[in-house]
Amino acid sequence: MKNSMWGGRFTQGPDAIMEDINASIGFDRRLFRQDVAGSRAHARMLAQQGIITADDAENIITGLDTILREIEAGSFKFSRALEDIHLNIESRLTELIGPTAGRLHTARSRNDQVATDLRLWIRDAIDQLDGALHVLMGHLTERALETAPMVMPGFTHLQSAQPVTMGHHLLAYVEMFGRDRGRFADARRRLNESPLGAAALAGTSFPIDRRATAAELGFDRPTANSLDSVSDRDFVMETLAAAGICAVHLSRLAEEIVIWSTSQFAFVKLSDRFTTGSSIMPQKRNPDAAELVRAKAGRIVGALNALMIVMKGLPLAYCKDMQEDKEPVFDALEALALSLAAMAGMVADMEPQAANLRKAAGAGYATATDLADWLVRELAMPFREAHHVTGRIVAIAEERRLPLHRLALADLQAVEPRITDEVFTVLSVTRSVRSRTSQGGTAPANVRREARRWLRRLAKSEPRPADGT
Ligand code: ARG
Repeated sequence: MKNSMWGGRFTQGPDAIMEDINASIGFDRRLFRQDVAGSRAHARMLAQQGIITADDAENIITGLDTILREIEAGSFKFSRALEDIHLNIESRLTELIGPTAGRLHTARSRNDQVATDLRLWIRDAIDQLDGALHVLMGHLTERALETAPMVMPGFTHLQSAQPVTMGHHLLAYVEMFGRDRGRFADARRRLNESPLGAAALAGTSFPIDRRATAAELGFDRPTANSLDSVSDRDFVMETLAAAGICAVHLSRLAEEIVIWSTSQFAFVKLSDRFTTGSSIMPQKRNPDAAELVRAKAGRIVGALNALMIVMKGLPLAYCKDMQEDKEPVFDALEALALSLAAMAGMVADMEPQAANLRKAAGAGYATATDLADWLVRELAMPFREAHHVTGRIVAIAEERRLPLHRLALADLQAVEPRITDEVFTVLSVTRSVRSRTSQGGTAPANVRREARRWLRRLAKSEPRPADGT
């Protein structure tokens, strides 16, 4: 059968394979709310401009409202032969109100229509992700405040480096997720222009009012160039780039949770709610949620990659290739929302094991830098020399299999006779972290101050409610 919406010059209908490759209704039906909202705004504007009558606009809008209810109720019959959400809705409108429905497509095209719908959908998705980030940051910050004085090993190369506090470590992620919110907000600001009225590619000869439709749909302004309006997918790539970076951050925290929850590390205990057992090994508690969050990053970054390659080299203006933008972005943003929620749950539930953390913080000569700093401060030794002296002391400790603070003063003095027992005050991990008071350092007082600052900032940056258009 010929396509009833555009088949005028065709004598034959599409091959079954053509229908398979061409149809997007299987995934773009998600855009139904946005599509109805865009059509409503367009119909109203056409009437205001005298392009269609007020009666026709009213009929169209009533029909669209019926369609919205049908889709929400699950009674709408989607047809693959009608390709996509736009034609499915328009065809149903014709069934409902007759030939008047055909007036809705005056001065527009599916090209500006889909670009409008997708911008609206992504705008809403960004608002939801912003809310999820806000929740996660809230949990991380509260845990940071609680664990501000809790010492743990800080690592470089995953080797014990210097003691830090758990609160400081968690606040590092708050910084990352704060930047993620900023990236999403930037993407949102740039995408919030209306392509509606660009029509197929060249604009239209009808006296439309693009500002009116832009305002009704909550856009800041109409886009400036009709060709760019229908061929631009920067807003999708930019959102996926922000999503990809956020997913990478999540994957790093997820990996730490995986490591921390092993019996070898035993830094945190995860809750039953976000772990699974093994059907064969009764002792096991597997960090599946963390592992899946770690893995989702691959999928999300993959979506960005897929879309960039779809867009690469496309000539202006619209090309059907661009229909391939939707599945990756739907999938990726959904995966990110789920990851953020799972991470928020894990962070809220996890129980840091203070005694194990403290013990590990003291292992691996983590206060060697404190010893070197003491030599610099108290003996006015150049840092390079202090580093060397400390290295010799660590070698002795290693030989004796003792932590630094257990060495006899005589052992220390054998390397550097001017060392006094004053030095033992800096060799404890608590002293070490307390002394790191430089701006941005790990001292518990700093961490408390920073956590409180973040709580105030979070209270001031409540996410905007997603409008669900
Ligand atoms: N389903 C199409 C898409 O997602 C809508 C635009 C179709 N435009 C066209 N000229 N065939 O991109």
